[in-house]
Amino acid sequence: MARVTKWFIREEIMNKIVKRTLMASTCVFIAGSAVAESEVEVLHWWTSGGEAAALNVLKEDLSGQGVGWTDMPVAGGGGSDAMTVLRARVTAGDPPTAVQMLGFAIQDWAGEGALADLNKLAEDQNWDEVVPAALQGFSKHDGNWVAAPVNVHSTNWVWANTAIMAELGLEQPADWDGFVAAMQTAQDAGYVGLAHGGQAWQDATIFDSIAMGVGGPKFYQAAFIDLDPDALGGDQMIEAFKRMETLRGFVDDNFSGRDWNLASAMVANEEALFQIMGDWAKGEFINAGQTAGEEFQCFRVPGSEGTVTFNSDQFAMFSVTDTTAQDAQMTMASSVMSPEFQVAFNTVKGSVPARTDISDAEFDACGQLGMAQLAEAAANGGLFGSMAHGHANNPSVQNAMYDVITAHFNGEYDAETAASEMVTAVELAQ
Ligand code: BGC
Repeated sequence: MARVTKWFIREEIMNKIVKRTLMASTCVFIAGSAVAESEVEVLHWWTSGGEAAALNVLKEDLSGQGVGWTDMPVAGGGGSDAMTVLRARVTAGDPPTAVQMLGFAIQDWAGEGALADLNKLAEDQNWDEVVPAALQGFSKHDGNWVAAPVNVHSTNWVWANTAIMAELGLEQPADWDGFVAAMQTAQDAGYVGLAHGGQAWQDATIFDSIAMGVGGPKFYQAAFIDLDPDALGGDQMIEAFKRMETLRGFVDDNFSGRDWNLASAMVANEEALFQIMGDWAKGEFINAGQTAGEEFQCFRVPGSEGTVTFNSDQFAMFSVTDTTAQDAQMTMASSVMSPEFQVAFNTVKGSVPARTDISDAEFDACGQLGMAQLAEAAANGGLFGSMAHGHANNPSVQNAMYDVITAHFNGEYDAETAASEMVTAVELAQ
């Protein structure tokens, strides 16, 4: 019954989001179409300060080429809400021209025949040679390019406030026990140990790296990619849930429902010691005028060193018949893939380039570390698509995992029950 109620509430909320977003989009569209002949309508979930600053780099790039922009933002990391709105638009026969998309969602839409073919542009610009193989698996469907990757984010980062660390005499922790001890010290001193927002996708983002930290690549592969019931319900999964319980003890009382960028602000404002979050959090610190290695620091979630759980934001273009719109789509895809744009955008967004031929010279300390670790993980079999961000499995399995992880984090299950619920939920979702 609890589950039915939860789904019902989620559906109600989504209906409101869809209605509100469709109305807003229609208004902007009418206003926008009067000024720009060539334009793209872009559905995305980049609504925080840092994300908006990065999006602006793209808007301005396109504006410089005479391509107008109609904005269709749908907040919510991981993109689940954006994908619900997208489905409604497509069902209504009115798809946006370009859509921010992750991993398996790209493959699903391409499988439905909804996406434009980018092969000609990809061939002209040699995308086969410069896009890392791990990303091509998502950007191409049946051998055809269907999406342009704008970045690579990774989810197994800790963001730390340098001033609190210095005040409490803390070093970057070497292992899980050191990590827990640091949060305890901060909590005892009146700080929040772990800044967190209680939303299903954020709980899952933390769980991503905790699970990797407990079980390493073999376990991550077996549980989240191969969906092996022994791994899903086994001892390592139970231990991962136990670590989530430990983390739960270090979040503040107001964590429920908090947006991720507000949790980042707690670290930036010296209220909280750590945040576990993808490197879009760095975009927030930068947007607040802070510098990597100075006011804030980054290190990998203890236990997950040597691995990278990644996601890549890509722009998929929906098939349209109007040739002006098609030209605008190709201009956008071309911009997104240009080396200059990849530097300009990713230094603001917090991510690293989706091309292997870009120097790290313009990137800050965390960006350079991220680029080096990405290459290292790719070479050593330590690079894995993020479960929480749609790169390990299809959206229905992803959402089934979200439900169990978040129910456990909110005290509905103990660690053993949560692990066995993972097995059942994943089985039902397949
Ligand atoms: C996206 C990021 C975004 C984050 C939070 C992730 O799924 O890949 O680009 O910044 O969600 O909104």
